[in-house]
Amino acid sequence: MKDHILAKDWIAAIYSQDIGSEPVPVTILEERVVFFRTRDGVQAFKDLCIHRGAALSLGKVADDCIVCPYHGWKYDAEGKCVKIPQQPAGQTIPPKAKAVVYSCTEQYGIIWVKLDAGSGNEAPVPFYEEYEDPTFQTVHAKPYILHATAPRVVENFLDASHLAFVHDRLLGDSDFPEIPHYSVYWHENRYVSDEIAIYADADGSGNYATIYYTFEILRPMTARLKKVNYENKQILSMLFTALPHKERKTTVFALISRNYALDQSDEYFRDFQKRVIEQDAGIVALSAFCQAVKISFEEVAARRGLMLILSQWMNAEPVMMDVELTRMVEHICMHRNLSFLSMFSGAGHDTQVMQSVCPTALVFVPSRGGISHSPDEYTSTKELATGVSVLTDFLYVLAYDRGERFENVS
Ligand code: FES
Ligand SMILES: [Fe+2]
Repeated sequence: MKDHILAKDWIAAIYSQDIGSEPVPVTILEERVVFFRTRDGVQAFKDLCIHRGAALSLGKVADDCIVCPYHGWKYDAEGKCVKIPQQPAGQTIPPKAKAVVYSCTEQYGIIWVKLDAGSGNEAPVPFYEEYEDPTFQTVHAKPYILHATAPRVVENFLDASHLAFVHDRLLGDSDFPEIPHYSVYWHENRYVSDEIAIYADADGSGNYATIYYTFEILRPMTARLKKVNYENKQILSMLFTALPHKERKTTVFALISRNYALDQSDEYFRDFQKRVIEQDAGIVALSAFCQAVKISFEEVAARRGLMLILSQWMNAEPVMMDVELTRMVEHICMHRNLSFLSMFSGAGHDTQVMQSVCPTALVFVPSRGGISHSPDEYTSTKELATGVSVLTDFLYVLAYDRGERFENVS
């Protein structure tokens, strides 16, 4: 999915607080980017050493430079190679020994990156005034991965009419699904909706009232929402931005700002947002999957001149595996240079049972021909050993290393 339009825009990549002393890899528009911190701020490079192609993210940061783990080439913040350890003293380093550097900037506690900076798109990082407003308190919601395309995720954020159903008794109420007519217009470089009166609970506190929603589309991947309760003057605003990793994998970042309940713990608002997005995640991923299945059935039917009748016999909710644990497994695979695919568990056992008791993630290994639950199922010893080693690393991280290295990786 190399999206040439999005590559010219600022994309939210990671929260600033999630970049510590080690390099952090993030996949953006199918491009692996490594972020690291120097005295001058955060830098973003292509996660590829130009010497022999090692992943710079597996290296380390030293003296405001990133050091490749393979032969120790050292790149400064401009990407210039400043040291080749094998080179005899007195030899100069060729100027083309340079890492690929991306533009990046820090705003609202988010690192934004532009993969194609020379494109002439001068649109700034979207403006979010509540972040600087002392009457508001802003919380960074936990980044959340959805298995759907980024435009689909943004579209879902802007869809007021799903609140009463997907978020019944949390944000909306299925007894009050009506949405009044509203218009959307272009205003100062963004699309803005009219105020939409919705009978809702602004923040999960259980206080239902008529809340006035205003949506704004600031950039293709960034939108904002303002919810106003005119009776008690409470305002809850949100900056919502989606990071497309690849076609069907998107991380959502959200800043939630409130001008009330300032002594309420930030964790309350973070947890609330997590519950909301978990409800959205199932819907957007499942509808994307159902659509893809339907399209491929239709294609086969058309190719073979068949009539197609589709009917749905059951609809079992997929169970989400724990996001944090899943990210840890992903990161272990990245460190081991293993290819992997993140999946939902729709299984009627395993996660569905365990997740209600404790956070759960599963590690699957490939079986020959994709055949499983059959006498023909076969997995090679090599694949099994790889699976066991990932599992062993995972247990080790959970026991000893949790929260240090593996928390902040997308
Ligand atoms: S591959 Fe990076 S220094 Fe050789
Ligand atoms: Fe939603």
